[in-house]
Amino acid sequence: MLGEVLTWIGATLGPVGSCLLGLVVLLLIFSPGGRPKNFPPGVPMVPVFGSLPFTKGTVSRPFLNSLRKKYGDLASFGIFNRKVVLVSNLKTIKEVFSQAKTAGRPELFLTTVRNNLLTDGRHTFLGILGSSGELWHEQRRFVLRHLRDLGFGKTSLEPLMILEIKELMDHIAKQKDSPIVMQRFFNRSIINVIWAMVMGKRYSYGDARLATLLKTFIAPGDINFLSPLHFIPGALKFAPYLPFLKKDVQPFIKVTNFIKHEVEEFQRDETAKKSDCLTALYLREIEEHKNESSFFHMDQMVSVIFEMFVGGSETTSSTLTTAVYMLAKHPEVQKRVHEELDRVVGRDQLPSFSQRDQLPYTQATIYEVQRTLRLVPFNLPHATVEDITVNGYMIPKGVFAYLKPRMTQIIDCMMDPALWRNPNEFDPRNFLDAEGNFKRNEASMPFGSGKRQCVGEPLARLELFLFFACVMQRFHFYDVVEEPFSSSNPLFAAVPRYTVRATARY
Ligand code: HEM
Repeated sequence: MLGEVLTWIGATLGPVGSCLLGLVVLLLIFSPGGRPKNFPPGVPMVPVFGSLPFTKGTVSRPFLNSLRKKYGDLASFGIFNRKVVLVSNLKTIKEVFSQAKTAGRPELFLTTVRNNLLTDGRHTFLGILGSSGELWHEQRRFVLRHLRDLGFGKTSLEPLMILEIKELMDHIAKQKDSPIVMQRFFNRSIINVIWAMVMGKRYSYGDARLATLLKTFIAPGDINFLSPLHFIPGALKFAPYLPFLKKDVQPFIKVTNFIKHEVEEFQRDETAKKSDCLTALYLREIEEHKNESSFFHMDQMVSVIFEMFVGGSETTSSTLTTAVYMLAKHPEVQKRVHEELDRVVGRDQLPSFSQRDQLPYTQATIYEVQRTLRLVPFNLPHATVEDITVNGYMIPKGVFAYLKPRMTQIIDCMMDPALWRNPNEFDPRNFLDAEGNFKRNEASMPFGSGKRQCVGEPLARLELFLFFACVMQRFHFYDVVEEPFSSSNPLFAAVPRYTVRATARY
């Protein structure tokens, strides 16, 4: 009987059709089934395709936004065989992400493709952002310890930043009221700050290699990191060879080649190797462990350097670009920032980080830019490394978990009138108390939450404050001309693309 059925299938579908049918049957047999027992509620899931038949084959931002309303603080769906839980509500977010059990990082386009490109396919999990378990723990500790010793996030870095800021301001002044293209405007200066610590190196305005790279730099908003194409089993491993992923892979190839070249150049420079920058310290650590099995090796080092370069520049630069945009669009806010800077700092000296507490409105403005920008609106995905129980539901090991603290819906914590003075507007008073003092609000989490919170937060906070305060003290920004911008990527915000004019205030 079975033989007859197989012969009939072979005759009807032909060899190619029969193989495809065989593949589908195997996937159906071996793919994990639908919803696990006592799993959080959510979109129906079927074997092989997960929830894709119910989401029209995509995972868009409006779809993600709709989940909490329909299913509650823990809402689930599936992309092929990957199960995903979206975690909302401040209390639940804190509970889920403070646990070591949710500190894993799943395979992601952002990290897996990069690691495969950097190491010619030798490693999938590397770096800090792109690793889990003991490797992640040790690398995060090592990098943080040494960067702190190098002044990371401390006021001792101020003179270095001021050097970059002065050069940037001279560049703005030279434009003499003509429109300035703001895309990637802050990148070189911000890269120079992190590169001083990581490579002991600085790029000049004329550096042709950096300028070329920045033109095609990774714009996270342009790549859909939740594209179902990335979730086809095996797709990430072979991404550079798959024509349908070529466009997404291209910017990664450019940056990985740049980083490889920088590391090779560093290794040829005997003076640089004897210095105390992070790369030199890392090379010494590799040497120390060379006769034993260790997490310290060249592939791992190159991956960490990549993360410092991209993670440490694009995020902070995009936030500053958005800050200038918001203030040029909100002259009343810009006027108050100018007034506060004139009153507290005056015009004879540049603002300093130590004056932060005396500049509550300026500080609140930066926090408000981050709240409204929502650069990483769902945080980066985590993976459960053990089964966990939350709100009576079971989330098994290996599930993707996204947190959702910064959505723009009325139901969400970012928009909760009980938590915010004016949640729907760009209004720095959201971070001020009734007396005008700066007031943090834990419902805003631009750097994530819990065990994997951003490594670069102390540095980014320092940079955001100093660059913003200095540039605002000196210039008045006006006349924004926008290019249409939107993000195809639900996981990253679209950063405004625009030109603006700047007049020196004195
Ligand atoms: C405004 C600036 C920045 C923003 C908004 C930002 C945001 C984030 C977010 C949301 C995460 C994910 C946290 C999680 O998975 O739970 C993250 C992770 C990370 N960030 Fe940042 N970041 C910024 C600046 C920086 C800087 C300056 C550096 C490096 C010097 C950096 C390096 C990293 C690294 C290495 C991770 C991975 C941490 C881990 O997986 O343990 N970031 N960042």
